[in-house]
Amino acid sequence: MTSVRTRRAWRAGFVLVSAVVLVAAANDGSVPLSLELPDNPTAGAHVFVEKNCVRCHALGGDETRVGPDLGRMHFRGTVLDLAGAFWNHAPVMREKMQDLKIVPPRLDAREMADLMAFLTAYRYYLTEVGEPGTPSAGRVVFETRGCARCHPTNGDSTWEKPGPRLDRYRGNFSGILLAQVMWNHSPEMATVMHGSGVPWPRLNGRQMGDLLAYLQAGNAGTGRDRVYFEPGSPRRGREQFANKGCIRCHAIAGVGGKAAPDLGRRPRDLVGSVSSIAALMWNHSQAMTMEFARRGVPRVTFSGREMADIIAYLYFVNYANVRAVPAHGGRLFVDKCSPCHSLGGGRRVGPDLQEAPQRGDPLAIIAAMWNHAAGMDQELRRHGLAWPRLEPGDAADLTAFLLNRRSAASTAHAAATGSVQPGGVR
Ligand code: HEC
Ligand code: HEC
Ligand code: HEC
Ligand code: HEC
Repeated sequence: MTSVRTRRAWRAGFVLVSAVVLVAAANDGSVPLSLELPDNPTAGAHVFVEKNCVRCHALGGDETRVGPDLGRMHFRGTVLDLAGAFWNHAPVMREKMQDLKIVPPRLDAREMADLMAFLTAYRYYLTEVGEPGTPSAGRVVFETRGCARCHPTNGDSTWEKPGPRLDRYRGNFSGILLAQVMWNHSPEMATVMHGSGVPWPRLNGRQMGDLLAYLQAGNAGTGRDRVYFEPGSPRRGREQFANKGCIRCHAIAGVGGKAAPDLGRRPRDLVGSVSSIAALMWNHSQAMTMEFARRGVPRVTFSGREMADIIAYLYFVNYANVRAVPAHGGRLFVDKCSPCHSLGGGRRVGPDLQEAPQRGDPLAIIAAMWNHAAGMDQELRRHGLAWPRLEPGDAADLTAFLLNRRSAASTAHAAATGSVQPGGVR
């Protein structure tokens, strides 16, 4: 058990650390906790199967399994909150694994990152959680939002309408590519709309999803099939965001242009679904076009997979921009971890967390905690301690604190030995 003296010692150490951290911290004491943007959010799908998660968790299916349906989980937090939830449920999961004779899987940092990206991205295939777009609802949108005033549908092949027939989108195009085409054609549509007094049809995510499902079903408006979207690459999308000049007007978490909303500071709107991001882009395309014209910048269009990549980037942008408060992480450490772990003080009941190898990023730390959960559980029971639960925000704060300690230690080591340590704080 921790004595009062060791707790005080920890607090003293912790004050010293905060001084180092303050250099980069904002007013609220938060620092950016950088995570790698996933390149392919579906890489985690095979980890999900390989590691037997699939045996207990459905992904938006109809059947009930031992664990909650992770496809229906509407997770509002950051990726680290998701990792924290995974950790919080570890004791029950491991118990159920024992019942089902499943060997608890070991997860390395890469696999943990892939899994969390996949579970984060899963919602992103769906128009809304558990409610993919339906063609029949899309038909209603098509009619009530004025699309049908200009675009002929099956029933009215003989009518003169200013817009082209859209039935060639049946089956051939994904929802995202359709959103791309709508974006590319929006200035011409705007001109026709303006001429005929039709207001710019604003769409919400739900309507956009239904609309895309309707057009994809080929204007039939009868299908009940679910329509999913292929995910783009957030990493490629980040390049697009720069190449297409978006960054000239939009900042991402404070970095970039100031003329337009900071897209890295609107966390929850952009994590809805692909179609809600597509709808945002559509709704704002007029204002953006005007802004492009005003500045004499040619308006950007998208080809190939570019729209998919941009949307994936916008979806994931806050995934990679998590802010954490290391000072709070320090307090968590004192309360929940210091009974068994030291930082630089040698092995106690558990290993010294400053020395533990390969714990260089937030998800690597959570993966290590999971891998060692059995040993920790045993010690917790022996000492009559509760499972150290991580509330929303805690996983980020705690890992930020641990990472700061490590880099501060490696800087101190470098200063002492005169060597240069890569990755240390400068
Ligand atoms: C043996 C069955 C089993 C396996 C295998 C399993 N889980 Fe679970 N999981 C559960 C149960 C049961 C719960 C709910 C536990 C509780 O109520 O505390 C849960 C909860 C969760 C939660 C929290 C959900 C929430 O709503 O907060 C996440 C995330 C999760 N599991 C992810 C995974 C991942 C990722 C894997 C694969 C590495 C996995 N699980 C493997 C049974 C399992
Ligand atoms: C006021 C008339 C008008 C309205 C209303 C309108 N469009 Fe259009 N739309 C057009 C015209 C004209 C074009 C052709 C533009 C061009 O040639 O670049 C077009 C092009 C398109 C295209 C690209 C077609 C292609 O293959 O070249 C799509 C997709 C599309 N519209 C979808 C929609 C949707 C969905 C709505 C409702 C939200 C809508 N449009 C509302 C006039 C309209
Ligand atoms: C010339 C400046 C400019 C450029 C370049 C630009 N935008 Fe915008 N964007 C704006 C403005 C201004 C708004 C706000 C429009 C409004 O309020 O209707 C906006 C709004 C948005 C929104 C909606 C945000 C919200 O808060 O609802 C999204 C999403 C978006 N832009 C994405 C992009 C992407 C992706 C690119 C690159 C392809 C891009 N923008 C390029 C000026 C720009
Ligand atoms: C009751 C004692 C106890 C508590 C409290 C505890 N741990 Fe542990 N921890 C252990 C033990 C014992 C091990 C080694 C388990 C093993 O190797 O099987 C361990 C291992 C670990 C490891 C893996 C280290 C390595 O070698 O890579 C990490 C990371 C870790 N703990 C983090 C934490 C964090 C963060 C907290 C606070 C939220 C915490 N632990 C709370 C006992 C504890």
